[in-house]
Amino acid sequence: MAEPARQTEAILEVRGLHKHYPLTQGIVFKKQVGAVRAVDGVDLDLAAGETLGIVGESGCGKSTLARLLVHLERPTAGVIRYKGEDITKLSGRALKAVRRNIQMVFQDPYTSLNPRMTVGDIIGEPYEIHPEVAPKGDRRQKVQDLLDVVGLNPEYINRYPHQFSGGQRQRIGIARGLALQPEIIVADEPVSALDVSVQAQVVNLLDKLQNEFGLSYVFIAHDLSIVRHISDRVGVMYLGRIVEIGKDAEIYDHPTHPYTQALLSAVPVPDPTAREHRERILLTGDVPSPANIPSGCRFRTRCWKARQRCAQEVPLLAVPAVFRDDRSPAAHDSACHFAEEKHVVPLEPGPVT
Ligand SMILES: Nc1ncnc2c1ncn2[C@@H]1O[C@H](COP(=O)(O)OP(=O)(O)OP(=O)(O)O)[C@@H](O)[C@H]1O
Ligand code: SF4
Ligand SMILES: [Mg+2]
Repeated sequence: MAEPARQTEAILEVRGLHKHYPLTQGIVFKKQVGAVRAVDGVDLDLAAGETLGIVGESGCGKSTLARLLVHLERPTAGVIRYKGEDITKLSGRALKAVRRNIQMVFQDPYTSLNPRMTVGDIIGEPYEIHPEVAPKGDRRQKVQDLLDVVGLNPEYINRYPHQFSGGQRQRIGIARGLALQPEIIVADEPVSALDVSVQAQVVNLLDKLQNEFGLSYVFIAHDLSIVRHISDRVGVMYLGRIVEIGKDAEIYDHPTHPYTQALLSAVPVPDPTAREHRERILLTGDVPSPANIPSGCRFRTRCWKARQRCAQEVPLLAVPAVFRDDRSPAAHDSACHFAEEKHVVPLEPGPVT
């Protein structure tokens, strides 16, 4: 991948990241017969203070990538660097120190909060592992401050998750993610389980918190429309890899990868005239199994532009040769042998209300 031209230093760098889950046969003598290649060669950078949106269809490896980034799982191969230090193989105290700085917010606020714990205990639980952040006597006050920061009444500290709405529960999940004062938050579809009217409020809260605490976000979603408002850059994932990545205007207004163009053409457009004139790109066929990834370009079985070369040669994630001397927004990383611009009805960047 071409090194991104950004002034700010990367707080997180990912190179050649893989997570393969073995497929085994047999009960007593287990034999590996293949592997689910959930994450299959991801490269990305996250700059301090920026939001990187990651989008892709169900099963493309988004949650696996998230778990790798926060060290909930170890990669099969590849490197994750935090502030220049390789953290991939850390263990013990060194790992604990790094994990404090990279926290996760989960998708489903209904299942990710323990129903038998009070909100105070849920938000304060990370202090049991990191007592240095909040000595016992200070914890109640810290948790109440966090409730206030995420827009909940500090007096709710003794309530249980079932006493809150979905949006409020996600606020509790965010407060918990903030408890250790991390620098990076990996949010795995944080609004997907919420009503549309509540999604905007939670996205706006994340935006506000980013400004307040200088956070860097990896914000995962399956829909391009959700990440537009919050992302500085967007990466599009397909079958375990990023196939196109760039600044948000580059991806939304000048996509060059057929998969991104198809995803964009499926996003709901509020303006009826624009809706009437837009071309829907319908992808044929199902997403192939990550245990059986097509040769060459992994998107070729669903791509309307596929040619012979696409089956033989893996396209690299780089600025395509046709745009290399170009200063236009089309000159961003796209893993396609035949990358070209295609007009897709633009998605309004307006503020979320
Ligand atoms: N622990 C595991 N063991 C085996 N396969 C797994 C495991 N975790 C995930 N997978 C497989 O890896 C692939 C990617 O899964 P992942 O949950 O990362 O996708 P996703 O993009 O988050 O999907 P969704 O949008 O549905 O949340 C899927 O085929 C999934 O079945
Ligand atoms: S490399 Fe070929 S199959 Fe892959 S996206 Fe480009 S045109 Fe389609
Ligand atoms: Mg997921």
